[in-house]
Amino acid sequence: MPVITCIDDLKRLYKRRVPKMFYDYAEAGSYTEQTFRENTSDFDKIRPRQRVAVDMTGRTTESVMIGQKVAMPVALAPVGMTGMQCADGEIKAARAAEAFGVPFTLSTMSICSIEDIAEHTKAPFWFQLYVMKDEDFVDSAIERARKAGCSALMLTLDLQILGQRHKDLKNGLSAPPKLTLPNILNMMTKPRWSLQMLGTQRRTFRNIAGHVKGVDDMSSLMSWTNSQFDPKLDWSKVARIRDQWGGKLILKGINDPEDARIAADFGADALIVSNHGGRQLDGALSSIRMLPPILRAVGDKIEVHLDSGIRSGQDVFKALALGAKSTYIGRSFIYGLGAMGQEGVTRALDVIQKELDITMALSGVQKATDIARQHVLVPHDFEGNWV
Ligand SMILES: Cc1cc2nc3c(=O)[nH]c(=O)nc-3n(C[C@H](O)[C@H](O)[C@H](O)COP(=O)(O)O)c2cc1C
Repeated sequence: MPVITCIDDLKRLYKRRVPKMFYDYAEAGSYTEQTFRENTSDFDKIRPRQRVAVDMTGRTTESVMIGQKVAMPVALAPVGMTGMQCADGEIKAARAAEAFGVPFTLSTMSICSIEDIAEHTKAPFWFQLYVMKDEDFVDSAIERARKAGCSALMLTLDLQILGQRHKDLKNGLSAPPKLTLPNILNMMTKPRWSLQMLGTQRRTFRNIAGHVKGVDDMSSLMSWTNSQFDPKLDWSKVARIRDQWGGKLILKGINDPEDARIAADFGADALIVSNHGGRQLDGALSSIRMLPPILRAVGDKIEVHLDSGIRSGQDVFKALALGAKSTYIGRSFIYGLGAMGQEGVTRALDVIQKELDITMALSGVQKATDIARQHVLVPHDFEGNWV
């Protein structure tokens, strides 16, 4: 068993064990990948304050997200095609999250269906909705999520059109991969992945297949998204979905104070400061940099969460210190999943929790819920002087 000490260890294993097409799918941002890079490098600019001689016993990373108790303020973000990173990937990730005591969010673009997750887990999970042109699909997805006992609906607002990620086009990304010579040769070098994939029936977008009219080619993410995502999505549609769902609602993909203000007036339970992990609008500022102005805009009108760029418990600590109530990880758990399946997701969560806990101890904080601005140092020019 390899010794795993950090998320990077999982990433190295992940790269070795998963076909290039799916590694590239996760490890990419749009266009020049500037936002993708800055999402992580901006965290490095924030420093924890070293405090000593503070009683560090009785520490806890426990917190609450939209009224739900969590083992730490870190949920699993919705990640499309998770079931291509590892056979039955969404089921494995959901089980790991359940055992750990953090929320799992199932993507609309998942390989395992809402019903698959409900069948293999006990804890209620969250469902992420992409708004499609086909209103019947949206209606039925909401009803399926309700029936499966999902305890929150997460509505993603920053993907009405797919940001271009060059590698996906070059690799001909699809689920399952097309049996071309380069793909076959590459899969032969990933025997564990290939064998497990042969052992499951879950190899295409099961959340969508059979639930959308007039869609025959379900394998191509690109052509399907381009034809089905609703470019007309606006706040009136958000309101319709909010009313139709009627339960806890999280608005994902807010990266501007103006939008945050609108979202806060919407009666949602939380918003997620997010730029989709740098996969959509390249050049947009990192979420950690946008967090302070967004918080100034919404005050305590709405719970503010953050994702994009979290690779350690120290990053979680910094996001909380800057005022996020909670965080999400996307790639950090995908690395674990591709590296070692369910056990790898548990390792990723474990690594992050331990890093958070030790950072709390060395910063003189006992409770994750007490982490505040005074616990970090932020350079004067961190937010930048943009006009
Ligand atoms: C491979 C991949 C697929 C994703 N698919 C979705 C998706 O289907 N729905 C969604 O709302 N966000 C999706 N996201 C964005 C994540 O939910 C999250 O915002 C992002 O991963 C956070 O950045 P991080 O990976 O740096 O943690 C995806 C991200 C990645 C890396």
